[in-house]
Amino acid sequence: MDFPLIRMRRMRRTEPLRSLVRETRLEPGQLIYPLFICPGEGVRKEIGSMPGVFNLSVDEALKEAEEAAQLGLGGLLLFGLPESKDEEATGAWDENGIMQQALRAMKATAAAKKLVLMADVCLCEYTSHGHCGVVRKSGEEYEIENDSSLALLAKTAVSLARAGADVVAPSDMMDGRVEAIRDELDADGLEQVPILSYASKFASAFYGPFREAADSAPQFGDRRSYQMDGANVREAMREIELDLGEGADMILMKPAMPYLDVIRAARDRFDVPMGAYQVSGEYSMLQAAFQRGWLEPQRAMMEPLIGIRRAGADFIVTYFAKDAAKVL
Ligand code: PBG
Repeated sequence: MDFPLIRMRRMRRTEPLRSLVRETRLEPGQLIYPLFICPGEGVRKEIGSMPGVFNLSVDEALKEAEEAAQLGLGGLLLFGLPESKDEEATGAWDENGIMQQALRAMKATAAAKKLVLMADVCLCEYTSHGHCGVVRKSGEEYEIENDSSLALLAKTAVSLARAGADVVAPSDMMDGRVEAIRDELDADGLEQVPILSYASKFASAFYGPFREAADSAPQFGDRRSYQMDGANVREAMREIELDLGEGADMILMKPAMPYLDVIRAARDRFDVPMGAYQVSGEYSMLQAAFQRGWLEPQRAMMEPLIGIRRAGADFIVTYFAKDAAKVL
């Protein structure tokens, strides 16, 4: 044989050919943009470790929602920075809490009709100690209490849904929270509000910049007694199975880039809508390389996003959502 019979390069010659046989696609509607809402007016404060990401007061957040709708994004994921924090995370379920204000204001806009408004449900942004549940301390010892945290999480979810959240997204990793939240929502006549469960959430170093953005770093200890060990994929499958059994409508995998195999395993096993969260540290490390001129911004932004889709995610929560939509 003098010539190769099969030439893979034939189909790579032109962009129309490449486009025709492209296996994985990404659309703006598959991107969810996270927002950090803070008190005040006219506040747009850049987060040091996350260039291009801001703490936004409600009025500024509305501008972001408008832009997100114009870009055709799938939705927003809202996080709140309360006025003050305490042991019981009072700010999380306060009728006039920062998230509740933001959701009510946003829901009243035309942009909200084109977006899915997701509300993160967790206590860590609202507790003085920065843990995702209730803390019981005795001397130097402490315990993040599971069952007493459930009532607070459920109360928070109801309050956010009442304020206008289209989807509630618990990220705390307490056992039984999906069922507790579902019960409370249904009892309140909110049976149509879906739950996006952060079912597979690993204890990750890549949440570092988020904790600066949300001022939610634990004041003592770490989150390893509730978030998963990064070495485990079977455990992640059990977490997902349990959350689906408790009534989760969709699952969220997190982080994304270091856990693509877990996303793939979940895709092969569960026929439910699945998102993946490209978290703050994944964003920050790419931004740091862009700032130094070490990576080509546009291509190095799109490649991981396609990778996350290829691994099996239906949608992606990413701080690059607006930038990626502009490219698309
Ligand atoms: C709240 C929460 C965190 C993130 C999403 N929800 C922080 C954490 O668990 O410490 C991280 C998101 C990111 O890093 O972008 N529990």
